[in-house]
Parts: sequence; C-alpha cells; structure tokens
Amino acid sequence: MSDHVTDAAPGKVLISADEIAQVVSRLGGEISKDYEGQHPILVNLLKGGVVFLADLIRRITIPHHIEFMKVSSYEGGTESSGNVRIIDDLGVPIANRPVLIVEDVVDTGTTLAYILNMLRLRSPQSIEICTLLRKRSSGQAQVPLRYVGAEIPDEYVVGYGLDYNENFRHLPHIATLEFSGEST
Ligand code: IMP
Ligand code: MG
Repeated sequence: MSDHVTDAAPGKVLISADEIAQVVSRLGGEISKDYEGQHPILVNLLKGGVVFLADLIRRITIPHHIEFMKVSSYEGGTESSGNVRIIDDLGVPIANRPVLIVEDVVDTGTTLAYILNMLRLRSPQSIEICTLLRKRSSGQAQVPLRYVGAEIPDEYVVGYGLDYNENFRHLPHIATLEFSGEST
C-alpha cells in the first residue's frame, strides 16, 4: 500500500462541530479571565493541536502570544510509543513568562509529562495545560490539567486536527476510527 492510502476510515461522530465550538468558547472565556493582565505564551503542540489553537485564540480576549513545538510519540499507528521526541523546539525563551500548553488530546500523559519537565527547567513564571480532549483512562503519567474541553472514551479518534497516519485532520468534528473489515 502506498503511503497516502489508509486502511482506516472515520466512524461514529463523538463530538460535533457545534459542540466543539461551544467547548472552545467556554475554554477561551476561562483563559481570558484567569490570565487577565498576564500576557501568557500559548505553546501549541504540532501538528494535532493546530486546529484547536486556531479556534481557541479567536475566543481569547486578552493579549497573548503563540509559539509552537513539534513533538512525536506515536510514529504511525494508534499506540503511544512511550518515546517522546522533540522535533522542533520553541523559538523563544520562556523564563519568567506565564506559559499555557495547548494540546489536542491527553491519552497516557507521557507526552505532556515529558514536555512539562523539560519546560519547567527553563523557569517559566507558571506553566499550565489546556487540552481539548482527555481520554477517560488517561493519567498513567500524572499531569495536572488546568483546562479540559471534553472527556472521551479510551478510543482512538480523528478529526479537528487529530490524525491517523496524517489523515483526517480536516474533519470539522471528532470521530472514532474504524479499520477496514470492522463493522459497528
Ligand atoms: P500520550 O502521550 O499518550 O498522552 O499521547 C498524546 C499524543 O498522542 C497527543 O498529543 C496526540 O497527538 C496523540 N494522540 C493520542 N491519542 C490520540 C488519538 O486518539 N487520535 C490522534 N492522536 C492521538
Ligand atoms: Mg498532540
């Protein structure tokens, strides 16, 4: 099979585009209130978090900056490899700045635990996490999640930035993933 062909397809819609918009609006409101006067740096984890970030910042009413980090832990497939790799680091210092990490989904927490430890060494004024989704089983690696958009079952999901082998990021909703040969 060539690279761009996939053995899986989106299945059931778990969170509709309208529901996502409501969640993002609520999170933007909370962040705007909590960070009033602080000028936070929102650190987005590429690539999965990019659609969420783009919508979230348009719901934030206070001044802030955005920065990106590219990390990888899945390397194709649907299981976390447990090995977090930094592919592109932040381009700015974060010492004495309030940092809010903006992530798409927390599954085992391995990725965030690693990034939190790494960024804490740079002495930010504060560091918190905002995740759109959290899997119900999550938390093997304990990470404090200040903002959680929605809880989802422990299933692999795609859409709204989340991919399966780089596919399905463009869906406006969050859907389950079904492999060919599977039926519901
Ligand atoms: P963790 O380290 O197990 O918490 O995995 C977190 C990272 O894996 C997230 O940043 C996502 O990029 C990716 N990931 C985890 N679960 C899913 C999923 O259901 N769909 C797509 N990506 C996922
Ligand atoms: Mg991610």
